[in-house]
Amino acid sequence: MTDPTHDAPGSSGIEGIAAITYATDRWDEARRFLADWGLTPVAEQPDQQQWETQNGAQVQVRRIDDPSLPPAIEPGPTLREVVWGVHDDATLDVLAKTLSSRRGYWADCYENNRIDAATCIGALDPQGLRVAFRRTSKRALALQGSPANPWGAVQRIDTPSPVYERAQPIEIGHVVFFTDRLAEMEAFYAALGFVTSDRYPGRGVFMRCAPQGGHHDLFLLQLPTGQVGLNHVAFTVRDIHEVFGGGLHMSRCGWKTQLGPGRHPISSAYFWYFENPCGGLIEYNADEDHLTAAWQAREFQPGPTVFAEWAIDGGIDGHTRRQPKVEASGAFLTEKRG
Ligand SMILES: [Fe+2]
Repeated sequence: MTDPTHDAPGSSGIEGIAAITYATDRWDEARRFLADWGLTPVAEQPDQQQWETQNGAQVQVRRIDDPSLPPAIEPGPTLREVVWGVHDDATLDVLAKTLSSRRGYWADCYENNRIDAATCIGALDPQGLRVAFRRTSKRALALQGSPANPWGAVQRIDTPSPVYERAQPIEIGHVVFFTDRLAEMEAFYAALGFVTSDRYPGRGVFMRCAPQGGHHDLFLLQLPTGQVGLNHVAFTVRDIHEVFGGGLHMSRCGWKTQLGPGRHPISSAYFWYFENPCGGLIEYNADEDHLTAAWQAREFQPGPTVFAEWAIDGGIDGHTRRQPKVEASGAFLTEKRG
């Protein structure tokens, strides 16, 4: 079964994130990190590493001083471009009309109102990040997360839940940016067909790229400090067990947890965040809410209990499978008494 999140086109014609481009000065560390993260290496040249997720979403890594890159929205390693996949040429036509008045508008192979297979259009968003659109090249996958057995709806019979040794991300689930112009950014993406799922009024906006689909593909966050830049990129995995398996593997490889594992009340997703040598944070994410056009956006006030239903600070040690600094003695932690 393919991921239902993006099976239904919805009315925007935008399917999800097709590609992202990082720029970093931590070249070898980036290679090791993305391999441990579970991405598949596609090619490497002196100035470019190419990786992909299981469904064919592309992760490019470039040198931080590469003059051919779009402008950076912050100093240091960060994202330089986000490419969204669209279903058809008609959607590209509509997006081209909307984007043509924007700063930095460009179109490849877009002539005489006809689009060929190589077409990619884009512009700079109000923050100065290059955002582009092209026909989707996402692969359909026959993957399924482990069914759960909630009270009243048992789905997993005579079948244990899986334990993963490591993760293999399926797709690029969402990107999150700090912005100092939240209203302008929300209006820009809404004009392209994005829909607001939930918001922290004046502070943050969760947007999905089509009326029907996963809770958010884009989250924009405005801090009192006015900080601008990448917060994180989330990679979707099959289920909570793969979040754990992936996070424990990253921990065993020596990578640093920023926060997690844990669960967000907004979107309901399980998460585990790590520091990424390519820029910002990176997240394993599973089990997010699936919304339709009937969903009414909610409003929240920011706070730690709104961000996480629960979360483990400092991660879990991949060897002991306990919190760091908690001694693993006995076969079961519950053997200790008093
Ligand atoms: Fe996230």
